[in-house]
Amino acid sequence: MKKVCVITGGGSGMGLATARLMGKDHTIIICGRSVNKLENAVNDLRNEGIDIYAVACDVSDSISVEKLAAYAKEKGPVVAVIHAAGMSPHMGSAKQIMEVNALGTIHINNTFYKVIEKGGCIIDVSSMSAYLTPKIIMPVGLYKLSVNDPELFMKKIMKRVNLFPKKVRAGVAYGISKHFVIWFAKQDAARFGNKDARVLSVSPGNFETPMGELEKEEADAYTKYCAIKRFGHVEEIASLFAYCASGSAGYLTGVDILCDGGLVASGVNPLKKNGR
Ligand SMILES: NC(=O)c1ccc[n+]([C@@H]2O[C@H](COP(=O)([O-])OP(=O)(O)OC[C@H]3O[C@@H](n4cnc5c(N)ncnc54)[C@H](OP(=O)(O)O)[C@@H]3O)[C@@H](O)[C@H]2O)c1
Repeated sequence: MKKVCVITGGGSGMGLATARLMGKDHTIIICGRSVNKLENAVNDLRNEGIDIYAVACDVSDSISVEKLAAYAKEKGPVVAVIHAAGMSPHMGSAKQIMEVNALGTIHINNTFYKVIEKGGCIIDVSSMSAYLTPKIIMPVGLYKLSVNDPELFMKKIMKRVNLFPKKVRAGVAYGISKHFVIWFAKQDAARFGNKDARVLSVSPGNFETPMGELEKEEADAYTKYCAIKRFGHVEEIASLFAYCASGSAGYLTGVDILCDGGLVASGVNPLKKNGR
């Protein structure tokens, strides 16, 4: 049986580009909430000769994720999960963003832990916002609740987010949720290691995707500080995901890889008033 790669958020952007690349030697399962988007992606990639299937799945719903994992397992040995599903500040409320980005990552790691093959890898997609959002607002002390009690974790973290003025809450929720993704992937490395599997996170900077387009107005201000003065192309992050998930990266786990065109390296932080 051909090896299976599951890609959450595979109907567009980075996920779709990754499906195209990983589809060269894997059976691909993409998921997302919009069936139309998934159908279009499946039609396009099947025409390119890729063995691809779609599952409607909301990663913030644990039962939906269980169904996705069961479907993937039926298709063959699951060796890679690229968890690219996410919501940005312009896409929803602070609560929705936290549920998709943070709770969704908990569901994906916990559920696929049960089905991932020996030698397999999960890549949780974070964001350079995790590096740029001021550390002082990160409720790191609450993160450990997510391991045993995701419900209490969500309740407490939303209480913290709701202390901020309404107009900045979605942005704060995004920064915290992506900082949490890095933490969660790191702390999960030992658990996955016991199964001879890996888990790591990748933090993209600004990329040319539908999400990147929505955030363009703010994101454009960052480009001049980057070492590489443009948005990233989706193929550039897809090939990083593919490498990280491959056996060639067999010793790589429990880390975050920042792929941001050198913005964070510049030391300039457009999220701060004085830029530093
Ligand atoms: N583009 C950037 O500049 C940038 C920068 C930093 C980090 N990122 C991160 O990179 C990842 C990929 O984003 P992208 O840029 O490729 O954006 P994108 O094209 O908007 O892709 C995100 C995908 O996630 C899916 N999704 C959203 N909520 C979901 C849910 N609850 N359950 C399942 N699927 C869901 C969306 O499909 P449906 O709406 O149909 O569900 C969509 O296909 C995200 O995690 C994002 O936060 C992107």
